[in-house]
Order: sequence, then C-alpha cells, then structure tokens
Amino acid sequence: MKKPPTPFPVTGYFGPAYFCDRREELDQLTRNIRGGNPTTLTALRRLGKTALIHHLFHQLRSEYITIYMDILPTESLGDMLDRFSTAMASQYSERSKLGRSVWRMIKSLRPVISYDPLSGTPQVFIRSAPDESRKTMTELFQVLEEQSKPVVIAIDEFQQILEYPEKQTEAWLRSVMQQLRNTTFIFSGSQQHLMKDMFTNPEKPFFRSTQFMKIGKLEESIYRDFIVKQYRKHSRSISDETVTEMLRWTDLHTYYVQLLCNRVFLSPDKEITTGIWKEEAARILKEQEFVFYGYREMLTKSQWDLLKAVAREGRVYQPTSSDFISGHALGNPSSVLRSLQSLQKMELVYRENDREGHSYYGIYDVLFGRWVAR
Ligand SMILES: Nc1ncnc2c1ncn2[C@@H]1O[C@H](COP(=O)(O)OP(=O)(O)OP(=O)(O)O)[C@@H](O)[C@H]1O
Ligand SMILES: [Mg+2]
Repeated sequence: MKKPPTPFPVTGYFGPAYFCDRREELDQLTRNIRGGNPTTLTALRRLGKTALIHHLFHQLRSEYITIYMDILPTESLGDMLDRFSTAMASQYSERSKLGRSVWRMIKSLRPVISYDPLSGTPQVFIRSAPDESRKTMTELFQVLEEQSKPVVIAIDEFQQILEYPEKQTEAWLRSVMQQLRNTTFIFSGSQQHLMKDMFTNPEKPFFRSTQFMKIGKLEESIYRDFIVKQYRKHSRSISDETVTEMLRWTDLHTYYVQLLCNRVFLSPDKEITTGIWKEEAARILKEQEFVFYGYREMLTKSQWDLLKAVAREGRVYQPTSSDFISGHALGNPSSVLRSLQSLQKMELVYRENDREGHSYYGIYDVLFGRWVAR
C-alpha cells in the first residue's frame, strides 16, 4: 500500500496505520457480512463512511472479493453499470482466475476501455442501450455468484439512484439482491433523510431489508492518543493539551481534524505548540475565504443571515424561538423555516439528534463556523 504524504491523510485510504479506531463499527459490519446481512451505513458528511468501508475491505480482502463503487457522479443505470464494471476490472488483473472471467464478460460487451495515465487503472465504458443495462448488470452479478470466494459490494452515495430516469431501479435492485446467494451489500450515503426514507419507509422497496448503522464522531480521548502517537512516530512532539485544543477547534469532525493535523505536520517546527496550530488554523481560514464568499453569493440575504446565526450558535434547538430570531435579527418564524429548509437541501445545514434525543440544527462546514465566529 502506498504511503500518504503526511501521517494525516485527507483523501484516500492508506491502511490501518493511518486509521483511528472504529473498532465497534468494524466488528458490527464484519458480523453483518459474515451473517449475510446487508447494511445501510449513514453519517454526517465527512465523518468517515468511505474510509470505514475501505478499512473494512482491507480486513476482509483475503477471504472476500470486495467491490467498491461510488455512484455520486452517476445519472443513470448505464452510468452505474460503467462504475460497476470499472470497479470489477480495476480490482482484478486479467491474469487472475476471477479476473479472467470478469474481463471475458466485460469484453464481450464491447466496451471502450481507457487507462488512467497516473495510476494505470482501467476505466470501462459500456454503451449499452438503456433497457439493456439491467440485463448486463445482472450478468455481472452472475459472474460474481459463480466465484468460490464470497463477495461484498459497497455502493457509496447510494441515494443517487433516486435521480436515475429509469423507473423502479430500487425495486429491481432489491429483487436482484434477494436472489444473490454469494453476495452481501453495503449501502452507504450522506444524505441521511433520503437514506432513512429508502430503508425505513414501508412504501419503499428496500423497507427493512438491511441493518441500519449510523456512525458518529470518534471518541475524543481515543482520537487524541492516536494523534499524539502519529506525531511522535514521525519525530514531532505535541502535548495532550495541544491536541485537545485542536480537536475542540475542529469540533472532532474527522475531515477537519485530519486537515488541521496534516497542515500542522507540514510546518517546519518539531515541537508543536498552541501558537503553531493557531497560526496554521488562521491560514486555513484565510484560504477558505473565497468559498465562504461563494456561499454568500449563492444565498439570499435571509439564508445568509440564518447560516451565520447557526454558525455563531453552534447548535440551534429552537430556530423559531423569539430568542434566536430577535437575537440575530432574522425576521419572522415562517421565513426562518423556509430558509432552513433551503440550507438543508444545499447541505450547508444539517439536523441531528443529541445524546438525549433532542433535535438541533448545526452547520456542516466547521471552518465556516470558525470564520464567522472570529
Ligand atoms: N477513523 C479515521 N481515522 C483517520 N482518518 C479518518 C478516519 N475516518 C475518516 N478519516 C479521514 O477523514 C476524511 C473524511 O472521511 P471520508 O471521506 O471517509 O468521509 P465520508 O463520511 O465518506 O464523507 P462524504 O460524506 O463527503 O462522502 C478522509 O480524509 C479520511 O481519510
Ligand atoms: Mg464518502
């Protein structure tokens, strides 16, 4: 496995040495797979769903055939078929046993195959007629069914299939899933309300067909120890207190923690102090300013004001309370609710439950929150 540029990667998966904890989630997923139970995995954005899937696959790779596809960029079943065949083709060399049958199957579809100039991984494009995509996908599943090893397929950003023009894709996939004996699925997605609806609404095909799993933030003390060790291993020193400050500033949100740690690691100093991380944090905010002004351009005045208000509060339990509205000069409750809905749709604001089960609104972009609060 390749080494990441710093011990705190912000994209990709580089093996267990760079991955913190998630032991319970990993155990649960592993149990589900061993029991042949499909899983639905959701979480707030950028908490680590995708990394967790890769981590799981890393542990399973000797016993299972693991196939990962991110369908966020797809717009139709035909696109999904391309992703699926690309995932299969890139996983297995033409020389391996499974590879031979996969490649034979794919080549029989007369695809256009190109190779990524940097990584050398193949990209498969199959120009099948729209109504043929299902048949071809079913044939690919069949190839997997015939393997001696069991198969796990993870479909990331699964809610994207709701956008496909083909009718009843969910119902079709559900019935395929039920027929497969050798394959277990993981459906993962960050649009939690859509994912929840697909899997818990009695009127939807996937109703109760999977085990629901929601991942949260990493435990603070575990993440802190991990970070201190990572710095030490790479000849930097940092105190527990300093890491705690960094974790607080990034709100323990995995991606932002990794980003800050990554940048601090790149600073020339061997001993990392409060001054150093704060300087780096300020630099990150400065760089992000154009993104924040981009939000302002994209939003109406009342949406923008509301976004700033949520950022300042951190957690908003009662967005229509007069305290909140008059405290931030937001107009009237109904317009606040309307703006709140739009901000959720744009994935700038999320709704979550706290430990006691009370729901609140929070802001996705931790950096924006820090920037506004300055
Ligand atoms: N347990 C972990 N230990 C260390 N780094 C992690 C861990 N989980 C995730 N990361 C890192 O945090 C970042 C965000 O994780 P990831 O992309 O997996 O999140 P995600 O939930 O799939 O986000 P999105 O909703 O945007 O798809 C990545 O850089 C990843 O490498
Ligand atoms: Mg992801």
